[in-house]
Amino acid sequence: MDNKVMYSLSYGLFVLSARRGDKDNGCITNTAIQVTTEPNRIVCAINKSNYTHDMVQETGRFTLSILSEEADFELFKRFGFQSGRDVDKFAGFESHVKRDGDGLPYVTRGANAWLSCRVVSATDLGTHTLFLADVLDGGTISSAPSATYSYYQSHIKPKPGAAPAPSAQKRWVCKVCGYVYEGDELPADFICPWCKHPASDFEPLA
Ligand SMILES: Cc1cc2nc3c(=O)[nH]c(=O)nc-3n(C[C@H](O)[C@H](O)[C@H](O)COP(=O)(O)O)c2cc1C
Repeated sequence: MDNKVMYSLSYGLFVLSARRGDKDNGCITNTAIQVTTEPNRIVCAINKSNYTHDMVQETGRFTLSILSEEADFELFKRFGFQSGRDVDKFAGFESHVKRDGDGLPYVTRGANAWLSCRVVSATDLGTHTLFLADVLDGGTISSAPSATYSYYQSHIKPKPGAAPAPSAQKRWVCKVCGYVYEGDELPADFICPWCKHPASDFEPLA
């Protein structure tokens, strides 16, 4: 099978946020979907290497900010290209954050709605954990259309090569998030440090 067929699946985009003690954190996800209406439940898959994953697993709580077409690339860089283990992703972002009734943060910039969720079960998928969760609360933030993954690819993510850095080395770009690898050869077992996709999702840059 040509794995590119998987690119035809459609996804939304979200900031999934958690709070453990006084620590707020969140990561970009594209894997949240509603699975039942009665009760109102969603699932989302979070990579086990994400700091947010551990926070959700321990607290059993998270919020989802549903991203709209007004979301900018800065938002994706803040929540999707760095880890809460290394930085405070919410620092300097206070004016774009609100909290649910239990104090969990959700992002209002570039989002059109938010959900507050409680984990019902966690299924080990190997690289990811699939969290099934009850939707406890939520609200509307704006009327802007929800962003799809393909909208992100075509309108939000900078075009590969838009600002090439002069280099004597070969370069490969991650087709998923735009990360550029430089070196003699792209290792076959390379994992994108930004979006965790494998070497097969990279293509050579001229
Ligand atoms: C467009 C995009 C989609 C992503 N989708 C997912 C996803 O569905 N699941 C996931 O675990 N990580 C996903 N990521 C990667 C995480 O957002 C990223 O690894 C983040 O830096 C983890 O931060 P943390 O360690 O603070 O949790 C995505 C990143 C981008 C840019």
